[in-house]
Amino acid sequence: MKEKVAVYPGSFDPITYGHMDILHRGLRLFDTVICAIATNIEKNSLFTVPERMELIRESINGDKNVVIDSFDGLLVQYVKRVNARFVIRGLRAMSDFEYEFQMASMNRNLNCDMDTIFMMTSKDYFFVSSRTIKEVASFGGVVKGFVPPAVEEALNRKFPPR
Ligand code: PNS
Repeated sequence: MKEKVAVYPGSFDPITYGHMDILHRGLRLFDTVICAIATNIEKNSLFTVPERMELIRESINGDKNVVIDSFDGLLVQYVKRVNARFVIRGLRAMSDFEYEFQMASMNRNLNCDMDTIFMMTSKDYFFVSSRTIKEVASFGGVVKGFVPPAVEEALNRKFPPR
């Protein structure tokens, strides 16, 4: 039987438990999920791409069904390149919907063989985003419980306690 592969794309700057929740639930639907970090999006990132890849690696506890990768350029091209047909995205709130709907529609126009599967973020993490985590950490707030321990440590190194 053919292996079912999905791409879970994002900035992952850094990975949070919200991402991990989507990743684990994605693994119930697919044999392999490729966590793919987009490298060319216009965002001021806190972590470099290799740092983000390492933080994902440290957070997945050696799960062989997760592949960690990065890509440059269009997501649809990357998805084709890795012979996948499905993209996973998490939806936290209605506010995510408009952007995600636009992106999924554009992607489907660019590659009609590709489908985006949306998963609702668990109620425990619907308010968690990489952006809010970085903001909380930068002002010395506690991010424990929202990010894996490796990320917590990395944030403490970037923003040493004042
Ligand atoms: O975690 P993010 O920042 O919400 O992820 C956004 C991401 C990386 C999935 C999106 O920006 C993306 O797919 N970028 C690659 C470039 C691309 O294909 N853009 C066209 C989308 S309409």
